[in-house]
Amino acid sequence: MALATEGLLASLSALALMIAAWASPVAGGRPADQLQILWGQTQVLNDGNGDQTIELMLDHAMGSAFKSKTSYLFARIDVDIKLIPRNSAGTVTTIYMISEKDWKTHDEIDLEFLGNATGQPYTLHTNIFANGEGGREVQYRLWFDPTQDFHTYSIVWNTDEILILVDGVPIRQFKNHWDAGVPFPVYQPMRLFGCLWNADDWATQGGRVKTDWSQAPFIAYFRNYTASGCAPTAGGSWACDQNPSGSGSSSGWMDRARGGGRLDDDVKQQQQLREVQGKYMIYNYCTDEKRFPNGFPKECGLA
Ligand SMILES: *[C@@H]1O[C@H](CO)[C@@H](O)[C@H](O)[C@H]1NC(C)=O
Ligand SMILES: *[C@@H]1O[C@H](CO)[C@@H](O)[C@H](O)[C@H]1NC(C)=O
Repeated sequence: MALATEGLLASLSALALMIAAWASPVAGGRPADQLQILWGQTQVLNDGNGDQTIELMLDHAMGSAFKSKTSYLFARIDVDIKLIPRNSAGTVTTIYMISEKDWKTHDEIDLEFLGNATGQPYTLHTNIFANGEGGREVQYRLWFDPTQDFHTYSIVWNTDEILILVDGVPIRQFKNHWDAGVPFPVYQPMRLFGCLWNADDWATQGGRVKTDWSQAPFIAYFRNYTASGCAPTAGGSWACDQNPSGSGSSSGWMDRARGGGRLDDDVKQQQQLREVQGKYMIYNYCTDEKRFPNGFPKECGLA
């Protein structure tokens, strides 16, 4: 439990710094201001409204990726994504937040869109790593065709919980149960990555359906990236964005950390979460008895 204590102490002092630095906004702006292309064929398109769209491309030679210029310790990230249409089998489009310092104890929050054959549904695969430990897969169908239009995918990460939202609807909640000995990301800053790659050895129908390279290049579009949170400054302290005004629990992030607007206090969002889990969840590690014959991970039994 040394780790638990260390993490908590680090988190408390980070939180104190954050609150001290409350009023200095950091992020805000257009995708190209905050996202940086990492590799592959990508394009930044400007439309008439001054909005920018990033295209990630995949062909036989390589995929492509971007990352946020800033890393955050607690944040809310929203990005609008339009996925590869028609035959996207074998491809995986992802956004994820990850800590970069120590792989053994790394934290990570994943949203992976697993492509499919024409007319077959995408799977949204999510996972959460804390203190180097993952294996917390939950998968969903979407209630719309994610290739027809842009939809907003969000990660809210604060000291109470991690929420994953689709068009403002919470689909997954992972609570901070450090007090019960379940690791939770609290002391390592994470950066956002977006990536498009080939994973036809496993992604689609268990790897049976391969990427059809005659359809390449495959293109996924990302638009309207916004991030607010606490970011390290050059001086070694932290600066936090102000919570979006008039936010309430649906768009705030720090509210929740201050105990003011957790999902547990929001009846409507709790209802939405239950509805999505009932109708659209297709896999949950917490109910996979075959995988855990000797009992489920601890967090599965905690409310
Ligand atoms: C692809 O479609 C098949 C058939 O509808 C479905 O079983 C599968 O879960 C879908 N998604 C993936 C990633 O294979
Ligand atoms: C971009 O995102 C912000 C906040 O998430 C939202 O208010 C705005 O309507 C979005 N803009 C577009 C063009 O979708």
